[in-house]
Amino acid sequence: MLKSETDWEGWRRAARALVLTGVEPDAVTWSVGGEPAPLPDADGGFHVPRALVSLASQAIQARDADRFGLLYSLVWRANAGERLLENETDPDLSLVRRMALSVRADAHRMRTNMRFLAVPEDGGTHFLGWYEPRHFVLPANAQLITRRFSDLSLSIVTPDGAAHWDRSSLLFGSGLRHVEDDEALQAWWEAHRGSLLEQATPDVSVPEAESLDEVPRPPDRPALGPVVLHTKPDPALLRSAKDASTCRRCPLYESATQIVFGEGPPDASVMFVGEQPGDQEDTIGRPFVGPAGQIMDRAMEEAVIDRRTIYVTNAVKHFKFTPRGKRRIHQTPEVPEIQACNFWLDVERTHVRPRLLVLMGGSAARAVLGRSVTISRERGRPIRMQDGQAVFITVHPSFLLRVPDAAAKAREYQAFVRDLNAIRALMTAD
Ligand code: URA
Repeated sequence: MLKSETDWEGWRRAARALVLTGVEPDAVTWSVGGEPAPLPDADGGFHVPRALVSLASQAIQARDADRFGLLYSLVWRANAGERLLENETDPDLSLVRRMALSVRADAHRMRTNMRFLAVPEDGGTHFLGWYEPRHFVLPANAQLITRRFSDLSLSIVTPDGAAHWDRSSLLFGSGLRHVEDDEALQAWWEAHRGSLLEQATPDVSVPEAESLDEVPRPPDRPALGPVVLHTKPDPALLRSAKDASTCRRCPLYESATQIVFGEGPPDASVMFVGEQPGDQEDTIGRPFVGPAGQIMDRAMEEAVIDRRTIYVTNAVKHFKFTPRGKRRIHQTPEVPEIQACNFWLDVERTHVRPRLLVLMGGSAARAVLGRSVTISRERGRPIRMQDGQAVFITVHPSFLLRVPDAAAKAREYQAFVRDLNAIRALMTAD
């Protein structure tokens, strides 16, 4: 009797004791959901190749009722001296390999497709992720994800259960069968947060997280800073964002984790356009949540611009980077990539119809004006385009992060705040 669908430690303990006391696979019935039955005392050597243990730790997460017995029969045969892993045609081993493959694919989907909704909580932000897994991949992947975002408070909600991370402990509790939209997820969280956390418990029996890592693991990321409040999405914009998620207009989709569409109120009077998502935006699926977003948020606060009232997007919607060891180094998008992505910027502009477009940096200016722009020469004042659209050019916030000298950095930051003050004046002008 295993405690849960992913009771890896329980299964290992039982398999070892049963093999060592000679209990044949056909004599064992495996089930889930109760207190473990007493196991026979077992002494002695137990010989199973490491690769088989690793395969089992993945296959045990498969949503297949027969997996425990199947895995036990493989362990039984390996312990009896059969050179199982060398037999490419063994039907049971093939089945387990297919299970493990499907689990790894699901784990990969979970890590790359899950978007986090930022909800305000206790003066900070809690991130809520929703995923409907094909297999029982939550416990092992919650470990990986929380290790990567150790400084964030977050929950991952699935129909099988939910994982909660409060920056120090990982607890598992009940999940949510179906989520209509972000608003429903947030409402459920706000209504049940107290009891969900109270009932949640640690899981000491999670399958090894490392054993999932045959799929490429995104590099370790620094923790995120404060992230924008997520505003209620507009259905038409949401549909466009969904269409954009399968965009193949340029090759950048191939290495990016996901598309990062713009966000903000669909009737915002101002649209801020950056260059492209960075490393953290690519992981979370939201624009300007990493270091550039944090400095932009700080400057906006000083200029008394409420980020919840503006629409924020990028000229290019996929992260362009070169891998360097564990890190992903930002690369400036090329003109054809900017031109290809203009399709989506136009979609956003058509939906939102902002009175003012703020172009932050050269790529945004190139996307909207169709020419190269010397930012220092054209920044700081509104310009009217031929079609009547008002635009305002300023620096990209990541430029502020790159200024090496502290005094120059402070000057540039103040110049950015001045530009934002001018933008606020334009926002509030009749
Ligand atoms: N830089 C950008 O241009 N956009 C982002 O979303 C983040 C960093």
